[in-house]
Amino acid sequence: MDSGKQLTSTLAVAVFTAVLGSLQYGYSLGVINAPQKVIERHYGRALGIWSDRMAILSENTTEEDDELLSPGKHPDVIMYWSLSVAIFSVGGMLSSFMVGFVGDLKGRVKGMLMVNVLAIAGGLLMGLCRMWKPHIMVISGRAVMGFYCGLASGLVPMYIGEIAPKAYRGALGTLHQLAIVTGILISQVLGLDFVLGNDDMWPLLLALSGAPAILQSLLLPLCPESPRYLYILLNKEQEAKKSLYRLKGSYDETSDLEEMRREKEEAAKEPKISILSLICSSVYRKQLFVALMMHLSQQLSGINAIFYYSTAIFTMAGVAQPVYATIGVGAINTIFTMVSVALVDKAGRRTLTLVGLGGMCLCAIAMTVGLQFQNNFSWMSYVSMSAIFLFVSFFEIGPGPIPWFIVAELFSQGPRPAAIALAGFCNWTSNFIVGMTFPYIQAWLNSYVFILFAVLLLIFTVFTYFRVPETKGKTFEEIAAIFQKGRKKPAQTPKDNCELQQLKTSTDA
Ligand code: GLC
Repeated sequence: MDSGKQLTSTLAVAVFTAVLGSLQYGYSLGVINAPQKVIERHYGRALGIWSDRMAILSENTTEEDDELLSPGKHPDVIMYWSLSVAIFSVGGMLSSFMVGFVGDLKGRVKGMLMVNVLAIAGGLLMGLCRMWKPHIMVISGRAVMGFYCGLASGLVPMYIGEIAPKAYRGALGTLHQLAIVTGILISQVLGLDFVLGNDDMWPLLLALSGAPAILQSLLLPLCPESPRYLYILLNKEQEAKKSLYRLKGSYDETSDLEEMRREKEEAAKEPKISILSLICSSVYRKQLFVALMMHLSQQLSGINAIFYYSTAIFTMAGVAQPVYATIGVGAINTIFTMVSVALVDKAGRRTLTLVGLGGMCLCAIAMTVGLQFQNNFSWMSYVSMSAIFLFVSFFEIGPGPIPWFIVAELFSQGPRPAAIALAGFCNWTSNFIVGMTFPYIQAWLNSYVFILFAVLLLIFTVFTYFRVPETKGKTFEEIAAIFQKGRKKPAQTPKDNCELQQLKTSTDA
């Protein structure tokens, strides 16, 4: 049987188990939006700003008075609310740096298991927030959860990239994103006020962020460790073979072992590649540039401006039921990620990224036209709405899922953990910047806000066309060779010799 084409039940269990971490990440990303007003009221009560008497008052007042009585307008509540939202990204930014360390410490599987403690602790802090000051409890819970998600968003693609047969590496890698978008969708539905997004149930809504960690902790002991980790890092050939058999069934493992042996030889030339030495090294400069640009293109495309502010954007576009339109976005998001799962190993990463970014650029222009002319022609709100749906669809075809797994493909075993850590940090930071600045940019540019994203998307499309190679169906070695083309062999120039020496001696993992 072709070693690149076997899908076994153990592999399926391993991938399913891993992406429970991604589900948790998606849920945590989406859960904070819908119950904003309810949570603000609780913060207001805890801070002594809002009382039930005011609630009765506001029921009998005009909309204008209601605005004034709204706890969400109080500076202290605004501050605690903004912190509850933003601290999640800060946690992720910090922990994404530690992905390499955690993954290499006891292995990918044990790494995922260990960090689940954080997810469960974060869920408990939020779920039990009524027992003490809810604003402090929620902010602490979100920080811990963000810290967990920063680690999960690196460990999951790293593990899947290492265990997936090369023919399915794209499809299985895309499952990370599929689980993220499913998590977002579940949180949007559970967040409706008649489900859990209400005064009584909101702590449970937030606590559920930690639930997948419990299931994952039960399943992880059944998952085989990454054969690449066992063979290349620990030098345990027999255990690596056992892991390969469990993942692929009985097959001739010679070519897989041979591939890992060659990767190991490469890794031996460059034992520990720290984040710092990866940044300084010219050996990996091209790969690193591509990896970081792909993560930047994912975030600076403006996708999270849609996710974080969709209700406001739909209102601006004149849509009558913005909350349901937002859930519609979540559903489209999930459907098109499934399309990407089906296409990515056939059409390839490069083509899907190009089509996705180019399509998003056109949609951003259409959104601008729609928003600009909606007062002149009522049907223009349909143009804006369709453009938003298409924007999200194009995102999920390529620019959404591909950056997450392509980093593991672009780097060999030595620099892989450091590269994933850096790319994760770039992703979380740019996500944070878009989330924080979008309301200001929107206030400044008004209906032209999406022109900014259209320009950025055009730049990223051109970059992808000229710089991003196709990695579909290639071994890690073949991918490395694409980037080495045109480079002199490392040992041939004194400068590169010196660089390799520097890489060898670096210990600051
Ligand atoms: C990607 C992005 C994330 C975004 C999501 C939307 O996973 O990394 O920031 O919210 O896609 O589907």
